[in-house]
Amino acid sequence: MAETLRVLVTGAAGQIGYSLLYSIANGDVFGKDQPIILHLLDITPALGALGGVKLELEDCSLPLLRDVVCTDQEAVAFKDIDIAVLVGAMPRKEGMERKDLLAANVRIFKSQGTALETHAKKTVKVLVVGNPANTNCLIASKYAPSIPAENFSCLTRLDHNRAKGQVALKTGVTAAQVRKVTIWGNHSSTQFPDLRHAEVTLATGETKSAYDAIQDENWIKNTFIPVVQKRGAAIIAARKLSSAMSAAKAICDHLRDWWFGTPENDWVSMGVISDGSYGVEKGLLYSFPVKCSNKTWTIVQGLEINDWARDLMNKTAQELVEERNDALEACNK
Ligand code: NAI
Repeated sequence: MAETLRVLVTGAAGQIGYSLLYSIANGDVFGKDQPIILHLLDITPALGALGGVKLELEDCSLPLLRDVVCTDQEAVAFKDIDIAVLVGAMPRKEGMERKDLLAANVRIFKSQGTALETHAKKTVKVLVVGNPANTNCLIASKYAPSIPAENFSCLTRLDHNRAKGQVALKTGVTAAQVRKVTIWGNHSSTQFPDLRHAEVTLATGETKSAYDAIQDENWIKNTFIPVVQKRGAAIIAARKLSSAMSAAKAICDHLRDWWFGTPENDWVSMGVISDGSYGVEKGLLYSFPVKCSNKTWTIVQGLEINDWARDLMNKTAQELVEERNDALEACNK
């Protein structure tokens, strides 16, 4: 059996945590022969609820779960961890602007970046979920300079899965028959959900480009893109809470593919540090199409970008530059 993995989930008493922890502890992410110790961090007032989550985990009677550490102390939570899933943040409420969230969350991710630097294994892999996810990820990485920037990523897999879901509904196939969709840029309403390289295997068994399968460019531009961009807000409006079940599923997908690799004929979207690919400013934390193998991601190269796509990619990059500048300013306060 493999060596025990220490997996930190922050904000573990929250609603994403509640949907996520079972899957991690059950081996759905790191494999059915991988023992796990969960480190669960939340703020002091949430420790009572977190204790209840621990009781439930015990009651799940999971063979891979070796221990559950519940704490409000970063020094305990980040000690010797292999994986960090940074979910804890102030969630966006109906009508709330992302910018309002930025300053409050930058403080959290500066502190957690420092805790990663001080207490985590240098090989730790970090997934930032708490919003604004790209910028929080950039800040955490900045304050953990001895951990490679490639070990940091942020969640745009939910947007990726949403895009696949919309195409599947439109073309009457399952999401598994939709491949090579891409989310470019920020996990926000400026993201660019791109179908120009996507493929759909139809019920007949024939594989077509998504554009040929859909045969409705107007739908792609004026329905598909805004639906995916604004899906988070639609869920908040309906549930009065942000997405949790689908977010937890996307976190599991992201981590599993990073750990075990992506399928040969597909790619996934991850927010990662730009190396300048596709003209995206080097150092920006931007969502790209990536393939994973040997626990490492690589940006898919060589995709054709036309003027229309370039414009949308630049718009979301511009938002990320502004968020980064605001965040760096907030860090120095
Ligand atoms: P929630 O409010 O139910 O839970 C958040 C938890 O984090 C709470 O238990 C809270 O006490 C805790 N927390 C707050 N500050 C903390 C800190 N400094 N350290 C540790 N824990 C802390 O929120 P929910 O629904 O679980 O969402 C969490 C975050 O994930 C939000 O920022 C939300 O916007 C984001 N999100 C991101 C998605 C993405 O695709 N990137 C998708 C859905 C949500």
